[in-house]
Amino acid sequence: MQIRIEDLSKIYSPGLPYETKALDHVSFTVEAGEFIGIIGHTGSGKTTLVQSIAGLLEPSDGRIVSVHADGTETVISQKGKESALVRRKVGIVFQYPEYQLFEETVMKDVCFGPKNQGLSLEEQKERARAALDLVGIDADDKGEVSPFELSGGQKRRVAIAGVLAMRPEVLILDEPTAGLDPKGHDDILEMIRRIRQEMDMSIILVSHNMDDVAEYADRVLVMNHGKMVFLGTPKEVYCEHEEALRAIGLDIPSCPSFLWQLKNRGMDVDDNKLEFEETAQEIIRAVKSRWQ
Ligand SMILES: Nc1ncnc2c1ncn2[C@@H]1O[C@H](COP(=O)(O)OP(=O)(O)OP(=O)(O)O)[C@@H](O)[C@H]1O
Ligand SMILES: [Mg+2]
Repeated sequence: MQIRIEDLSKIYSPGLPYETKALDHVSFTVEAGEFIGIIGHTGSGKTTLVQSIAGLLEPSDGRIVSVHADGTETVISQKGKESALVRRKVGIVFQYPEYQLFEETVMKDVCFGPKNQGLSLEEQKERARAALDLVGIDADDKGEVSPFELSGGQKRRVAIAGVLAMRPEVLILDEPTAGLDPKGHDDILEMIRRIRQEMDMSIILVSHNMDDVAEYADRVLVMNHGKMVFLGTPKEVYCEHEEALRAIGLDIPSCPSFLWQLKNRGMDVDDNKLEFEETAQEIIRAVKSRWQ
């Protein structure tokens, strides 16, 4: 399923003194199977954007359209039965999703979504087991445990399994690594990588971590004050718009940032590199050429 965001604007509390324009004419398309990373400062509109895509917020202007494999379209940002049915194909994992765990056992929690989808108990359990497996939690070991007895990282993974069990075609993750220690952070990213390999879905990842977005996303969308300022491959965005990103106060990933600093100190390096290996090779090349 492709999703088209058309000229989307969102104003909170319109007409009131504290009116806020959170999204300002944003347009882009999420292709089927694509992985999009969204970055931007606090308050730039990232959560408003993804919650709008998930159908949780009504746009003030513009619309969101899903384009199905057969070419037919459904406007999902409007009321109505058909829109609601299509919206169910968009799964969203909120920031700190572990706060939404509520059932007595891990299994019951993960089954909650499939149960609401009207699936049989057997199907619910099958879905839950597959989802728990995907997030690296052993259903035999932890299925009957209370989710509140798990560690922070495990709770979060159970919450993510709850969304995966609904088999969305588009998976939105809003800052899924926020507040986790480095190990928990790496586990979640490894899990996202696995989900991507094993499930046929588009992924929209909101993150503050430039390195994560650079490594995982097919395209990066940069938000600033409610506007989409850049959209392109990580290389296009980070390497071609480096100065502009710095100007709006955003970091760039460690590799181009390191090369940029070497360049500013007079070393003849190409800072259009994103991956660790190519960065190392570029530094070796520059050092060698200096000594020749
Ligand atoms: N429910 C709301 N009512 C009023 N204003 C809101 C509401 N939610 C968000 N805003 C405002 O809209 C703007 C965009 O907020 P949003 O939460 O979408 O940003 P964000 O990029 O997700 O920020 P963060 O990185 O802190 O999560 C901010 O100015 C915020 O204060
Ligand atoms: Mg947010």
